[in-house]
Amino acid sequence: MTVQTDMTADIGEILLTEEEIAAKVAELGSQIGADYADRRLTLVSVLKGSLPFMADLMRAIPVPVRIDLMEVSSYGGTTTESSGLVRILKDLSATIEGEEVLIVEDIIDTGLTLNYLVRYLRGKNPRSLRICTLLDKPARRLVDIPVDYVGFTIPDQFVVGYGLDYGEYYRNLRFVGVLRPEVYTGVG
Ligand code: IMP
Repeated sequence: MTVQTDMTADIGEILLTEEEIAAKVAELGSQIGADYADRRLTLVSVLKGSLPFMADLMRAIPVPVRIDLMEVSSYGGTTTESSGLVRILKDLSATIEGEEVLIVEDIIDTGLTLNYLVRYLRGKNPRSLRICTLLDKPARRLVDIPVDYVGFTIPDQFVVGYGLDYGEYYRNLRFVGVLRPEVYTGVG
């Protein structure tokens, strides 16, 4: 694949601006703060896509939080399709037994990755387990997962930026944009 040095040239449309994302993160942070008032919370984020969201959201939550990071990869599948078979590359570094846990995700597409993760984390006996995702693409959902906090519901388009990648690039864009199809079809 060829990523132009001007990354923005590969973006067809800006779906969410930096300002829209910041406003939503602030809103989610206060909602989570209100729901967990007088409690302590462990945020579990999944690398690498959730990194900017996690960094911003944790600072928008006004209750004491601990953070932990996991990294998973899906076997098989393609760069734009998930396979549902998940391998843990990096596990939690501390126990979550008896803790209030909130999973912080970048995007839920088929739901297969999260479905695996929820079952895995439930097995560690947290006191509660909820899910917060910045983006939700319900059109392609294959498993039904109750999501407690959703930033934006987006159409079935492949998006990059604010942590989301294509071939590991574009994560550092400040906005969320739709990648031009020519970039992943190699035509044009
Ligand atoms: P799921 O298992 O199909 O729900 O896929 C979840 C993972 O696939 C996300 O954590 C992302 O890493 C990746 N993903 C799904 N849709 C997109 C997209 O539109 N852009 C970039 N990555 C995506």
